[in-house]
Amino acid sequence: MRVEPFEMERLQSEWENRVEINLSESSVHPVTVQELIGDGESLAEFAATKLGYNQTNGSAELRRLISSLYTGAGPDNVLVTNGTAEANYLAVWKLLEGGDEMVLMLPNYMQIWGASRGFGVKVIPFRLQECKNWAPDLEELRRAVTPKTKLIAVCNPNNPTGAVLSAEEMREIVEAARRVGAWLLADEVYQGAERNGATTSSFWGLYDKTLITNGLSKAYGVPGIRIGWMVGPKDVIASLWSYHDYTTIAIGTLSDALARVVLAPGNRERILERTRSILRRNYPLIEQWVRAHSDTFSMVPPVAGAIAYLKYALEINSSELVRRLRDEKSVLVVPGDHFGMDRYLRVNFGPPAECLQAGLERLGELVRQIRSS
Ligand SMILES: Cc1ncc(COP(=O)(O)O)c(C=O)c1O
Repeated sequence: MRVEPFEMERLQSEWENRVEINLSESSVHPVTVQELIGDGESLAEFAATKLGYNQTNGSAELRRLISSLYTGAGPDNVLVTNGTAEANYLAVWKLLEGGDEMVLMLPNYMQIWGASRGFGVKVIPFRLQECKNWAPDLEELRRAVTPKTKLIAVCNPNNPTGAVLSAEEMREIVEAARRVGAWLLADEVYQGAERNGATTSSFWGLYDKTLITNGLSKAYGVPGIRIGWMVGPKDVIASLWSYHDYTTIAIGTLSDALARVVLAPGNRERILERTRSILRRNYPLIEQWVRAHSDTFSMVPPVAGAIAYLKYALEINSSELVRRLRDEKSVLVVPGDHFGMDRYLRVNFGPPAECLQAGLERLGELVRQIRSS
């Protein structure tokens, strides 16, 4: 297997904890353990957790809680993984082989792109179009999907644009898969992080050959516990569980316990509302900043996630702009290059407001310096 660098994750791995202001994330500032379990009896109960191997596909209770989010699903439709990243990797590993064709929504979190290319898969894109508020080019999708297509992979809500598919667009994607008998893989990890609107619908239940991936890293703001999951037909989930024996065996025992707290009825709604209220509070800051810099920056308002995908009009490549911002201003954002699109920056508006404001001010300073030089 030839592994190409996963550019965005490499950049974050190297720099996110070394810069003064990290705006390269895609979620809101994380929840603390104390916010989740408090310090009374539940803390004592949590501290008494035995640190043995966890039930390797996720505890029965955690799988029950997850399955309750998907109409008609039960615990045997669920495999719990180490982050959505492991879920996506297992899906690609299971469903694709060298020489297969996959049709992929672009731009995208580039994990599925890179992993499948590593397996020797031919990746055929269909794009979201900025001029249509990042709606998918359905004509391009129809042309891309052929009897050779093994898998159609989408990310909804989308990273990096924050766009959400309409019901009609979802139906078109399902029909394209059904027409050729392809699998559908829907990464829905930003579901629940909609700033104003209703919760994004899942692809679950629209087509039998569907795998959903999701997790607690984005909408729930707890990436550090590394909890992801896959939901799919029982026989496929059983088979994926045996693939998981080869990757990480099990999720962490403390993570399983914390995930059950996050998803417990009442807590779940409270945590999602925390995320949405941060998004609602911070979004006007970045919106005003873009307006004040409209000679250089523009954006289509994101519907979900704490990410703004900014287009810029400057004669400088996006990786170079990000390097200068990092080295000269100690601020980290993601270059459009990492999504295959130069002249864009992905900026996180999920950190504490003063941190966001300071980061944006520094970006503004650098832009003024570039313009005047
Ligand atoms: C669309 C998408 N899928 C998966 C992941 C990985 O998420 P996790 O932290 O749950 O592994 C990310 C992280 O940025 C993402 O944006």
